[in-house]
Amino acid sequence: MCGIVGAVVTRNVQGILLEGLKRLEYRGYDSAGMAILSDDNRLDRVRALGKVGALESRLEQTPLTGNIGIAHTRWATHGKPSEDNAHPHQSGDNVAVVHNGIIENHERLRSELQQQGYTFTSETDTEVVAHLIAREFDRGGDLLSAVRDALLVFDGAYAMGVVHRDEPGVIIGARKGSPLVVGVGIEEAFLASDPLALLQVTDRFIYLQEEDVVRLSKGGRIEIFDRNGDAVERPIQTFEHSDGAASKGDYRHFMLKEIHEQPQVMTAAMEGRLSERGVLIESFGTDAEALFAKAEQIHIVACGTSYHAGMVARYWLERVAGIPTQVEVASEYRYRRVVVPENTLFVTLSQSGETADTLAALRFSRDLGYMGSLAICNVPGSSLVRESDLTLMMHAGPEIGVASTKAFTSQLVALMLLTLSLAKVRGEEPERQAEIASALRALPEVARRVLDLDKDIEALSTAFAEKHHALFLGRGAHFPIALEGALKLKEISYIHAEAYPAGELKHGPLALVDSEMPVISVAPNDELLDKLKSNLQEVRARGGELFVFADENVGIESTEGVRVLRLPHVDEALAPIIYTLPLQLLSYHVAVLKGTDVDQPRNLAKSVTVE
Ligand code: AGP
Repeated sequence: MCGIVGAVVTRNVQGILLEGLKRLEYRGYDSAGMAILSDDNRLDRVRALGKVGALESRLEQTPLTGNIGIAHTRWATHGKPSEDNAHPHQSGDNVAVVHNGIIENHERLRSELQQQGYTFTSETDTEVVAHLIAREFDRGGDLLSAVRDALLVFDGAYAMGVVHRDEPGVIIGARKGSPLVVGVGIEEAFLASDPLALLQVTDRFIYLQEEDVVRLSKGGRIEIFDRNGDAVERPIQTFEHSDGAASKGDYRHFMLKEIHEQPQVMTAAMEGRLSERGVLIESFGTDAEALFAKAEQIHIVACGTSYHAGMVARYWLERVAGIPTQVEVASEYRYRRVVVPENTLFVTLSQSGETADTLAALRFSRDLGYMGSLAICNVPGSSLVRESDLTLMMHAGPEIGVASTKAFTSQLVALMLLTLSLAKVRGEEPERQAEIASALRALPEVARRVLDLDKDIEALSTAFAEKHHALFLGRGAHFPIALEGALKLKEISYIHAEAYPAGELKHGPLALVDSEMPVISVAPNDELLDKLKSNLQEVRARGGELFVFADENVGIESTEGVRVLRLPHVDEALAPIIYTLPLQLLSYHVAVLKGTDVDQPRNLAKSVTVE
């Protein structure tokens, strides 16, 4: 998704902006650009279609100099990926704007501005923003008031950075519905849509709140104004992750690094939250115990991989905590009439905390009579965290690969902590809670043993490189794991993959099975194992080639057309976490064989901040 970087510094700004854009590449984008206010009062702009590397080559030929600038990576929404549609957008030679989000009433504004004589050179909604700010500035006043006046007419979501040639010492930033942070330097100030973009220059950030407007000026001056225009102080927070988290280290891709980080990430997710006496409910907040004790239902809302984590949690919450649970994708939930029974807890799951649909669902939920909201999230200070009653941070560290891996397993650990908390307050089977808590403590070690099978999984991947389709099967809490396996494969290898609960095969998808359809199944040692074995026979009888990740004790053997990889035994409740790992590795190796862009797959964005 689009990324913003801006800086008012005491040195040449081009390198800082370029490095910031490189750090935002993981979000997914199709073009990049920057505009710098030169010392002799020009507004210079360079843009390029494609990767930040293409912009860098242009800048080598035409370097820009100056202390103030804004830059952007664009992920096309209005208008195709092209240099003309790349940001920054300008109004004449005076104003330059970078913008994330969508201006919903841009068509009406565009025709109004055209009638007033403004010329458009792109198909984007952002160019409307540039012209409107130019128009307001020309009516008198400073850049801050011009931006504020322009914001009054926009419908939609935005985070933006604005510079004007006639106010050369200043960048104005504004946000509504899209994230924007201010980086605090020494006599320097920065702006970005993601703190990771600025970790090379600062680790101190101010997370702007909804409808805040900020003025950054020379000398590192930062002035923030709330939605009423009143000057406000916002806290400075120190970024908690080390800069090393944003580099690949010795790994070929971020995705592989993040897959192998999972044992540590699992430990981090439970650290300080699980004592000898079980789960510490106060990890969810001081009010959590009282709220959980009253809760009679749970509604979970999330998108993509986070939604799959929610689906697993439904099995856990109902089985272990005995609490009725519903799970729904946020983009559907937010547009239907939701009937909320009394004492229902609303739970959102999000790695980024900025996913537009999930955030909108949280806001939509507020008037529906929920008893409270809980966010399980990986980014402190994100919108979801700020707007929820209770939060549990995942502590997974920055996830850079667009395909979510460690965030998923850390969400699952967090959701198991939620399950144990609810089981505890509801007085459900204390012995079972103790067993699961002890299995959780041992989980990172089991995960390490599974990751040691990397080479065996790589060997399996060759069977997929020439395939066009794949089918994933699972039963019970492993159906969502099959869904997640299929999502990973399609995201990064572009192989069409579908997932079914194995018992559903005979109701239709079996028609697809032949020797060209690899079928991947997870087979933990649980009560549905025998049922699953019968379903696998149905596949084999139709000539389907089977790849089975099976518990070491279940007695499924490799035979002709059936390749079995044995996984260490793990408590049934935690098996969904462990069986995720080989599916991640399989997708990764298939994608590497196919030569795709593993960390930034085509058409996708890391943090989906538009609807
Ligand atoms: C998964 O690999 C994707 N990156 C995607 O499905 C993602 O999980 C989804 O967009 C939700 O993101 P969030 O967790 O940041 O809300």
